[in-house]
Amino acid sequence: MSLDQPVGRHPDHPVAPQFTARWSPRSFTERAVSEAEVMSLLEAARWAPSASNHQPWRLVWARRGEDAFAAIRDTLTGNNPVWAGKAGVLFAVVSKDTVTNRDGKEVANRTAGFDSGSAWMSLALQAKSMGLFAHAMGGFDKDKLAAAIALPEDHTLHCVVAVGEQGPAEALPDDLRAREIPSQRKPVEEISRHGRF
Ligand SMILES: Cc1cc2nc3c(=O)[nH]c(=O)nc-3n(C[C@H](O)[C@H](O)[C@H](O)COP(=O)(O)O)c2cc1C
Repeated sequence: MSLDQPVGRHPDHPVAPQFTARWSPRSFTERAVSEAEVMSLLEAARWAPSASNHQPWRLVWARRGEDAFAAIRDTLTGNNPVWAGKAGVLFAVVSKDTVTNRDGKEVANRTAGFDSGSAWMSLALQAKSMGLFAHAMGGFDKDKLAAAIALPEDHTLHCVVAVGEQGPAEALPDDLRAREIPSQRKPVEEISRHGRF
């Protein structure tokens, strides 16, 4: 497992190195991601925990060079298509928002989004363990992406994730190059309360 630590990331408390080693670069080389690698990424997502083990996540993927990759890339907004278009694979992360209850009725699954978040993080950590990087994007055109992947009813789009091999910051356009720096975090004291707010 490659656990080289990004420059400038120093945890305040002891933590498994995988958490600080994962970050979201924008520079990808054009190295292909094989179908076997895609399966390993999906396998990691598969084992995420979920309420009642409903496993509501759905991941629609396409590798660079496939028409479906271009279709997903073209739904990205802002700078996202510029850099994400070089990634080896794109995943649209979706949740199925209903489950069948004991009476056979389709009812809302209120933890579907939360559970799908676990699946994306599992995929991201698996990518890092394979020497790849995953970068999530909320910047996409909802209607276009729904059409591109033929999103069924009762499903919600969460993000598109680009996965690939990290490239040099120098390969990015000027505005993005300046932002190719691993981010920091709020202190534990700010994100937690002992006992109550
Ligand atoms: C749901 C979600 C949406 C995001 N949307 C975008 C995006 O549209 N474009 C982008 O460049 N980064 C996007 N990011 C990346 C975040 O900016 C990044 O994860 C955050 O700054 C923390 O940095 P790190 O992942 O490098 O630790 C998104 C991340 C998440 C989880």
